[in-house]
Order: sequence, then structure tokens, then C-alpha cells
Amino acid sequence: AAPPGLFISTPEPFHSLRSHPSAEGELLFVGGEGHKTGQGGDTVARYQRLEAWAREHFAVRSVVYRWSTQDNRTFDRVPYIGLAAHDAKHVYLATGFGGWGMTNGTAAGRLLSDLILGRENEAAAVYDPSRFKLGSAPRLIKENINVAAHFIGDRLTGADAKSLSPGKGDIVDTGQGKVAMYKDEDGVVHAFSPTCPHMGCLVDWNPAEKSWDCPCHGSRFSMDGAVIHGPALKGLAPISKPG
Ligand code: FES
Repeated sequence: AAPPGLFISTPEPFHSLRSHPSAEGELLFVGGEGHKTGQGGDTVARYQRLEAWAREHFAVRSVVYRWSTQDNRTFDRVPYIGLAAHDAKHVYLATGFGGWGMTNGTAAGRLLSDLILGRENEAAAVYDPSRFKLGSAPRLIKENINVAAHFIGDRLTGADAKSLSPGKGDIVDTGQGKVAMYKDEDGVVHAFSPTCPHMGCLVDWNPAEKSWDCPCHGSRFSMDGAVIHGPALKGLAPISKPG
């Protein structure tokens, strides 16, 4: 039976459980298969493993919903809550909750109201968005870009527009450059520059969500190249005639 309450395991691979009553019967939320955005590999296989784990432990009748969420994390995994910058007088932010939005959102509400009203709050320094020294940010960006550069080599599968099956996407080397290519269910090819407009990393195809995902800072783009998740503000640049 579905367990009463919310549970999370600590050993890898981690799973989380939460039951929820509904008009059609008890729903069980099963979480797991976490990975960095754009670095999940075969995301269809991830859903299959998650379902197999659920069926192994519970009397599953059917899988009614499935989705992927993105949890933003900071360097030290403590959220940023406070003034957006030391010289920002009236701009506050609260982000980087790492999936713990119920508790951190509540903490953010208390802390931000204290800051706005000029009241002492001993947690202010812990959550201060400006707590990192200049210099650590460029290092993180560089490390992430290195990861992306490594991954592109693994992602070139030798596919071309003809070998792509309908409903599939891939990074294709056309001989004149790399192209992010998606073939829709009618066989029409949609081609884009694989370069993320945020800071130039190379996107990866997510087969389960049918989206282009950036491994550097988590931007995501629809199969039509439109931006669906920041920090990128623009979509992938279309290529009218892939080679
Ligand atoms: Fe930053 Fe893509 S380069 S999200």
C-alpha cells in the first residue's frame, strides 16, 4: 500500500515517496533518477527504471502522470535570500531552494519581511545572495563549460536527417558544422544551431521530454527551438537548410 506521509531515501540511487488522495483512488508520487539538466543520457530509460522500482515495491495499477522538475542549487546548496546586490536598495530575491521550496519558501517570507521592515534577523548573513567573493563565479562557469565540451563528443551519434526516425532529435554533424535536428511525426525536419544563446554551451536532446536541454546552466528549449526555461532569454537559432 502507499505509505502515509512523505519519505526520502538517502543512499544512491535516491527515491522519494508521497501519497495523495484523489477521487479516483490513492495516488503515489515516486521521485528519483535525478540528474543535471542536459546530462541525463537516455531519459526514456530513466522513466522506465523509476516505474520498475515503483512496481517492485508497490501494487501499482497504472502510471497516470509523469514529469521532470528542475531544482536550482547554489554553490554551497544554501538558498540566496535577501538583497539582490549590496547596492540594490529595493530589489530582493529568493532562489536556489534545491527542491525544498515548502520550507525554504517559508523561511524566505520571514527573512524578506524582516529585511524590508529593517528588523534584525540572524539568518540574514547565512542566506545573503552576495556572500560569495568575486572570482568563484567565473570558476564555476568555466567548469560547466568544460563539462559541456566533453559531452558533445559523446553526443555525436552519426545520425543524419535521413536516419532520424519521426519524433526523434539528435545532434548531427553535417560536415559543415553541428546541427540540432528534430524530425516531427510528419517527417518534417526542424534544424537549429545547437549553441545555447545564454553563454554558448551545446544543447542535448532529451528524448523523454522532447526538448533541447543545456548542460551548463539548465536552459531548456522546445522541439521548435523556443525557450521554455531560463536563464536563456532567446530560442535556438533556426537553420533553414541543414547540410
Ligand atoms: Fe548557460 Fe546554456 S550556456 S544555460
